[in-house]
Amino acid sequence: MTERPSNSPSSSSYSDATISAPDYEFVRTLLRKEIGFDLGIDRQYLVVNRLIPIAAMFDCRDVGHLIDRVRQSQDRRLIEAVAEGMTINETSFFRGGQKLFDNLAQVAVPVLQRARSSQRRLRIWSGACATGQEPYSILITLLEQCPQLRDWNIEIVATDISERALEQARNGVYNQFEIQRGLPIQMLPKYFTKTGDRWQIADTLRRRVTFHRHNLLDSFLRLAPPLDIVFLRNVLIYFEPSSKTELFQRLRQSMAPDGILVLGETESTLGITTDFQLNNACRDFYQPAI
Ligand SMILES: C[S@@+](CC[C@H](N)C(=O)[O-])C[C@H]1O[C@@H](n2cnc3c(N)ncnc32)[C@H](O)[C@@H]1O
Repeated sequence: MTERPSNSPSSSSYSDATISAPDYEFVRTLLRKEIGFDLGIDRQYLVVNRLIPIAAMFDCRDVGHLIDRVRQSQDRRLIEAVAEGMTINETSFFRGGQKLFDNLAQVAVPVLQRARSSQRRLRIWSGACATGQEPYSILITLLEQCPQLRDWNIEIVATDISERALEQARNGVYNQFEIQRGLPIQMLPKYFTKTGDRWQIADTLRRRVTFHRHNLLDSFLRLAPPLDIVFLRNVLIYFEPSSKTELFQRLRQSMAPDGILVLGETESTLGITTDFQLNNACRDFYQPAI
């Protein structure tokens, strides 16, 4: 059992494997406010497992000590480290299946292309891109399947709240396991080079994606709307309903009226917003409601 300081606001002490009810509620409220993450109930094990390394990073004796410091100091560095430490950065190349990316190239792009034939410009945003597999999958799809866009100005912006995930995304370096999860084998020699026991995406691709930190709860103005294609997948599942509704409202204002929104396989707008409707041509996509 770890000793807690006598001035600790949480009276109950706890071991490394558990967390007091007031501390759990404190973290839950902090996550809701900072990143929209709805932790739910009874996920004490998750909080403890995720925050042990953060506690060590800030020289705290244990997770309880870390939470006390956040509570007392309200230090932004600590708050952001705790929020980021709780994010789930699970992702893979071509997540959702090849068919989804084929539909992007063969159904969504041609319509947008026709409508933008004079500007010859497409703006794509991968929000919550984690370690970068999603924006690189989009780029590889366009290179492979949309040669007609070769002399277009294609901007791909990819953002996430997690600097740790973004660092890997910017470097574009993946281990064998990450490569095997979804990347078609023929793409490997074409777009990656081996560095030690890892694979790095070609510089020419890396330079075509702009990565920066962005909190989905913050304004979308920094993304320089209007956006033509938005991938916002497997992140809203962690949001509480009111944050989702508000986010869809802001997203609609940031998208081109004929823009395409892609959500995760288990996500939908049903019962959350009427700001988006399913795309008539392909049910993988949503579009701003008319
Ligand atoms: C499960 S991953 C999804 C990655 C990718 N979109 C996919 O579908 O494979 C969720 C990502 O959302 C990010 N995230 C969570 N809350 C966020 C927020 N409020 N703003 C921006 N990114 C957030 C996490 O850091 C994490 O990398």
